Amino acid sequence: MSQNSGLPLDRLVEPDRVHRTCYTDPEIFEQELEKIFHKTWIYVGHESQVKNPGDYATTQIGKQPMIMVRGKDGQVNVLYNRCPHRGAMLCNEHMGHAGKTFMCSYHGWQFHLDGQVYGIPSEEGYEQTRLCAEDPAKNIKPAPRVENYRGFVFASLAEDGPDLESHLGGAKQAFDDMCDRAPEGEVEVVPNCFRMIQKSNWKIFLENQLDALHPSVTHGSTGHAAAEVEKEIKSKTGEDAPLSYHYLSAFTTPIHKWDSMETVGYPQGHCLLQGYMGLRPQDPDTLEYEAVMREHYGAERTEEILSVNIHHVLVYPCLSVQSPLQQLRAVRPLAPDRTLTEIWHFRLKGAPEAIYRRALDYYYLVNSPSTMVNADDLYNFWRCHQGLRSEGGEWVSFHRNAGQDPTENGVTTSVTGLSEMPMRNMFSAWTDFMAAR
Ligand code: FES
Ligand SMILES: [Fe+2]
Repeated sequence: MSQNSGLPLDRLVEPDRVHRTCYTDPEIFEQELEKIFHKTWIYVGHESQVKNPGDYATTQIGKQPMIMVRGKDGQVNVLYNRCPHRGAMLCNEHMGHAGKTFMCSYHGWQFHLDGQVYGIPSEEGYEQTRLCAEDPAKNIKPAPRVENYRGFVFASLAEDGPDLESHLGGAKQAFDDMCDRAPEGEVEVVPNCFRMIQKSNWKIFLENQLDALHPSVTHGSTGHAAAEVEKEIKSKTGEDAPLSYHYLSAFTTPIHKWDSMETVGYPQGHCLLQGYMGLRPQDPDTLEYEAVMREHYGAERTEEILSVNIHHVLVYPCLSVQSPLQQLRAVRPLAPDRTLTEIWHFRLKGAPEAIYRRALDYYYLVNSPSTMVNADDLYNFWRCHQGLRSEGGEWVSFHRNAGQDPTENGVTTSVTGLSEMPMRNMFSAWTDFMAAR
């Protein structure tokens, strides 16, 4: 099966359709890493993963293994996970504590937590060699740019480019909505995440996140089963079923209702889908939480915060954030047909424990690798990737409502929630990144 279209790059993406090799061609995948993941801002982690000086977490930006570490001065540094001596990876765990310095366990070179060399065994051996005392090649190389938006740490491997806030633009709402919902205005990571490897291209995952047509089809069976249980609970107890059932029964939302949702496409490929679930039942936990919010923010601001109606924000090309439920999925492409996702969730600082349990329920019931919802999505992704490898057709269709969604000041609003505008918006950014020199 040929994975190369023979078409030049600028002919692979049309306004309403995309050539299948954008997903399958190993050469295009390499270019995506170089021109997108190694250029723009990529999410590294949350600062609460590294609370104390010496705490570190490892991840990757494109192909590059990276370390996020809290320095002695309290700053969060992002460094290449590579010893400058003979290249060994310095940290081999997902997270840990380095102590006051990093020490490479191969030959014992030591480094300050900002990557500057601290000590080299048998250092006199370097006198009169080309590796002189002040040579920066003795230091761990830092990411050229690191910025933090409300605790969410991003790095860019490019020296130049827009700052993080300009890059995020409309996608800042993801982090504002999540943090504003915390009485203390901050969130805290739950220390570890699920890591899952999907056997499909990274773009298929992102496209699915704002694909409002698929939930009632793909997840209908899960939704109807949960709705049955909800009914049973109500008839037996007279009470509404706990909110967690609603997370699943919401998938019974018929297709015509999704039609009324709105999606928004921002510059740089970011996209947003409005909320569709009621998250403010009048149960004692919610009422207690809302009272705590009013204590911190006052009634008017609390109302403003809690009525923000977001379901999903895609921070292109690396994140899917569900801010009202404090969920975040980070996308790390490994190969054209292999994608690592990290599935994180957060606590709202200052909120009652029950509100955390609610986010945890969503994490387990909808986003974890063990739920039917996720399993059904993964199966679709795999099926798409298999089909795209075949020669049964050359193009992927994004025609639904093409040319109909109005754009103002670079922001596109869909005419219907079912429009394939988010996919077209992401590919418009993809084309710009891939064309850049
Ligand atoms: S490779 Fe790290 S000290 Fe030699
Ligand atoms: Fe889904």
